[in-house]
Amino acid sequence: MKIIRDPAAMTAWSREQSRSGVSIGFVPTMGFFHEGHVSLMRMAGQRNDKVVVSLFVNPTQFGPGEDLSNYPRDFDRDSQLAGQAGVDVLFVPDTESMYPEGARTTVSVQGLTEFLCGADRPGHFTGVTTIVTKLFNIVLPDEAVFGRKDFQQLVVIRQMCLDLNVGVKIIGHPIVREDDGLAMSSRNAYLSDELRESALSLSKSIILARRSVVAGERDVDALAASVRMLIDSYPETSVDYISFFNDQTLTPVARIDEATVLALAVKIGGKVRLIDNSYLMSPEDNQV
Ligand code: PAF
Repeated sequence: MKIIRDPAAMTAWSREQSRSGVSIGFVPTMGFFHEGHVSLMRMAGQRNDKVVVSLFVNPTQFGPGEDLSNYPRDFDRDSQLAGQAGVDVLFVPDTESMYPEGARTTVSVQGLTEFLCGADRPGHFTGVTTIVTKLFNIVLPDEAVFGRKDFQQLVVIRQMCLDLNVGVKIIGHPIVREDDGLAMSSRNAYLSDELRESALSLSKSIILARRSVVAGERDVDALAASVRMLIDSYPETSVDYISFFNDQTLTPVARIDEATVLALAVKIGGKVRLIDNSYLMSPEDNQV
């Protein structure tokens, strides 16, 4: 596996591949890999001739007081895991080369980013769409694979590609879970054993909601009340949002149908903000 740090060298590599008709699958990441990331890399490899993974902890998507400075990092382990997953290039730019002095342009998507994860994190999605645009322009991939755990991010990036005629096919990968149901996340590393128990309130809520829907419940208020009660029954949990929305528009719904997604954001132990989501009527691994 090649490690490339310089954006211009990354683009030169990609251009050379494209000249010989090789397709490039891309997985943008902020590192601290777990099985979820590795699954995205494998999916990119199954669908493409070459795989590029970027590892860049993007400062512009963190708000003040968020965990940028102590975001978990382990370059040696990450490069080993990427190599084992068959990645061809690990692209590891530094902040100066991604955000040189004097940069003035950002990319933002209106109407999909002001609520859910955007409500408490102003500027977060502009940070994401700006860096993803820059990474796409540097890596020049044919396809990019994103985890469906960040459901809103996936919808926002799809919209951005549509609106800006970005010729990269966006693939959503189903959420990868630990054996006990916890959605894999680099932020799980912050959880003590006790807090990890409380973190299970997210996946347990999804199971509860899906079972209620199977039993015939369609009313969002009733489902939201039982989900909130379940989360509140775990120590050190505080709900950021419990939202039932349409999978395309992200607009809230009053009754459940095939396109309804339940998404949750819960702070565990006051600091660790975890998210999870699931369709409620279709199979959980239904692809977006
Ligand atoms: O999902 C992430 O890890 C990040 O938001 C991304 C897409 C790599 C952009 O920094």
